[in-house]
Amino acid sequence: MCMSKLNSFHNIILLSYNFLFFIFLPSTLQLMGSNNITPLSTLQPAPTTRENEYEEIDWDNLGFKVTQTDYMFIAKSTLDGNFEQGQLKPFGNIQLNPSAGILNYGQGLIEGTKAYKREDGRIFLFRPHDSSIRMQIGAERMCMLCPSVDQFVDAIKQTVLANKRWIPPAGKGTLYIRPLLMGSGAVLGVAPAPEYTFLVYACPVGNYFKDATGALSLYIEEEVHRAACGGAGGVKSITNYAPVMKAMKNAKGKGFTDVLYLDSVNNKYIEEASCSNIFLIKGKVISTPKANGTILEGVTKKSVIDIAHDLGYQVEERSIEVEELIRADEVFCTGTAVGVALVGSVTYKARRIEYKISEGIITQQLNSRLVEIQRGIVEDKRNWIVEVK
Ligand SMILES: *Cc1c(COP(=O)(O)O)cnc(C)c1O
Ligand SMILES: *[C@@H]1O[C@H](CO)[C@@H](O)[C@H](O)[C@H]1NC(C)=O
Repeated sequence: MCMSKLNSFHNIILLSYNFLFFIFLPSTLQLMGSNNITPLSTLQPAPTTRENEYEEIDWDNLGFKVTQTDYMFIAKSTLDGNFEQGQLKPFGNIQLNPSAGILNYGQGLIEGTKAYKREDGRIFLFRPHDSSIRMQIGAERMCMLCPSVDQFVDAIKQTVLANKRWIPPAGKGTLYIRPLLMGSGAVLGVAPAPEYTFLVYACPVGNYFKDATGALSLYIEEEVHRAACGGAGGVKSITNYAPVMKAMKNAKGKGFTDVLYLDSVNNKYIEEASCSNIFLIKGKVISTPKANGTILEGVTKKSVIDIAHDLGYQVEERSIEVEELIRADEVFCTGTAVGVALVGSVTYKARRIEYKISEGIITQQLNSRLVEIQRGIVEDKRNWIVEVK
């Protein structure tokens, strides 16, 4: 094959990855701008942004999908192992070296947090510092450099303010914020990348699962495991998600909303769903699997445990056999994206178990209290909410 053909082929490789589109141009390996913050006023609107887009969004049917907002935040690591101050840029494609650590060896971490708008127009974040600390723990596990807690939280605030017009009105939804840390430097052999990029983008979202009014139906998976002891299941590594898509696709094809995974050693202890933690209630006791490196320690999970204590319930974090789940009174999942989501049924070995989803159930009390704290109706005793202004 002639050389010039090969080169022009290399010039246009488009790859869709994790909802972002990367364009590789071998001649322009440098990624993302200078060290200076660009004042918002000097930034041009993203090319595809139309003047009246605010009015055009159907706030009642947001769902959980990518919507191109105006700005994203980007900061690169520096040679001394810290991160540059970073800057807002118009939301859009980024350039990566084809040998970037994230593309070749999956050296990447995600986070997920939300901004809420109240009736009075004020904007709040929920526990952004917890997301930041979780990213630091993940970065340590994946041998990555990570921005400091202050840099992380400040980047989230900047991203929220720059995309203010995309935050759904109170009660209609939230602005989902996706921090992304990636090995952006080039490596050929398996090794940590020499450079890291921290990126934050945000999208308005409604309900994660399409049928939000109905309860979740979970399929208990016996063949595919989400995480193994000693693996990376306890951190929000991007490597944890593609391997479960087959099980999710299979379950969704059979009409289930999501998959519930079992431990990989005994195949009988419940762990969690694809992107949410699981709880069960029996009598007045609330139980959830104890995280031991294979379960992602959710911020929502921690919050619900504290709320359950506040409301006078006993909470147990321990190993839970699938048989125990079958005998539970109520089951629910928790996560930033899903909130506190009631489970209506689980299906195990071709047996479907239904749970009560009537009014006045304990799950509803826990969910209401969480939402009331987020909306400022109930006092936030633990400094979970952070105003953005
Ligand atoms: C993000 C995530 C959760 C939920 O964590 P939150 O901090 O509550 O959003 C649970 N399990 C997995 C696998 C996740 O990726
Ligand atoms: C917790 O980890 C240990 C090994 O560290 C493992 O043997 C055990 O099965 C794990 N527990 C669960 C519920 O998976």
